[in-house]
Amino acid sequence: MILPIYTFGQPVLREVAEDIVPAEYPNLNELINNMYETMKNAEGVGLAAPQIGLPIRVVVVDLDVLSEDLPEYKGFLHAYINGHIVEKSEETDVMDEGCLSLPGIHESVRRALKVRVQYLDEDLKPHDEWVEGYLARVLQHEFDHLEGHVFVDRIGTLRKQMIKSKLVCLLKGKFRCGYKVKLNR
Ligand code: NI
Repeated sequence: MILPIYTFGQPVLREVAEDIVPAEYPNLNELINNMYETMKNAEGVGLAAPQIGLPIRVVVVDLDVLSEDLPEYKGFLHAYINGHIVEKSEETDVMDEGCLSLPGIHESVRRALKVRVQYLDEDLKPHDEWVEGYLARVLQHEFDHLEGHVFVDRIGTLRKQMIKSKLVCLLKGKFRCGYKVKLNR
């Protein structure tokens, strides 16, 4: 089922998301499948549960769409449950980002090159691993959502000033996008 995506201004995007107790989520697989479907429908590479209105630590990532250029991501479709970034490399780089919760906005963001993540996979198997490359970028963006941050929090004051009117339009619901959204009202 395709779910509406909560856009900039929705209070849930500013909440710190909680770990879940999987046993208390009998429909976890259904939730994850709905998130996959919602992400694909919106042509996103990642989606965090707060973006569908749930302040819980569940993230889905689909990097298969990049596999033409980055063959290592062929078939890459994963869920991250109770995910936390516990370490970051000192080396950083800058890349353009967008977000399904902020349609129409793209800005350069500086982030760590590598991050160490702890999470449960879809089978609830625990992982503790360093990731790099595009995946490190996407996980930092998505896990930011779990801490109540969006990517425009990480851009410079000047850039933020320059996109202020776009952000105001988002808050007022004055924008178009090709998927179902839940506006800030
Ligand atoms: Ni996002």
